Amino acid sequence: MSRPARMTRRQFLRLGAAVLGGAALACSAQGNRSDCPVPPCPYLKTSLSLEGNTMTEKILVVYASRAGSTAGVAEAIGKTLAARGAAVDVRPMQQVSDFTPYRAVVAGSAIQGGKWLPEAMQFVEDQRTALAQRPFAAFLVCMTLAMKNGEAYRSHVATWMQPVRSLVRPVSEGLFAGALEIAKIPAFADRLKFRLSVLLGVWPEGDQRDWGKIQMWAEGLRL
Ligand SMILES: Cc1cc2nc3c(=O)[nH]c(=O)nc-3n(C[C@H](O)[C@H](O)[C@H](O)COP(=O)(O)O)c2cc1C
Repeated sequence: MSRPARMTRRQFLRLGAAVLGGAALACSAQGNRSDCPVPPCPYLKTSLSLEGNTMTEKILVVYASRAGSTAGVAEAIGKTLAARGAAVDVRPMQQVSDFTPYRAVVAGSAIQGGKWLPEAMQFVEDQRTALAQRPFAAFLVCMTLAMKNGEAYRSHVATWMQPVRSLVRPVSEGLFAGALEIAKIPAFADRLKFRLSVLLGVWPEGDQRDWGKIQMWAEGLRL
């Protein structure tokens, strides 16, 4: 009867190195994800799980809104990101000045006169250094995309992001239709202008937000 072949010392060392190398690769590829079938590797730590809490998984969604529709879009983006497993804070821009808890930022503004709101531009200008140090995505909410042929204006609407782009380059830009509630517009002249535009059929009054499109954009974000 033949004896089972014995492993030489060299073969044993090679096999050991291959097993350890494979395990290390599996650990680093999977990180510390909770759905990872590989048990957490005690020797490798990803930069996101540094002890001492220097960096967290938190994502910040900030917005500037006048009548509330952009706030609603920000909430929906936050919920979609949270459903992917991220911890998310959704805040008005004025309430945030410390970015250390956040590894990524999503910022959005309502459009007035073809521009992000002044406080939103001020926010990007003031925080450009912090924003440039982490993945940054930007979105806008407007009525032009709610027009019947609104999609034909998408590339024009995209130019309204240029002032933001010139300060911090977003990894992605979301362009969304918003809501028009004429009674909520404070200035009489603006109310008149918008009543006229609705009468002329430029755009409809009411909520034109497309939650499916907003969710799809948020799901596609690589932050
Ligand atoms: C004074 C004013 C100016 C606006 N200017 C534009 C504009 O230039 N282009 C556009 O597409 N929508 C414009 N809109 C529509 C808003 O962008 C839209 O209603 C948006 O959903 C409002 O966001 P909010 O509810 O967060 O304030 C304007 C709205 C107002 C009240």
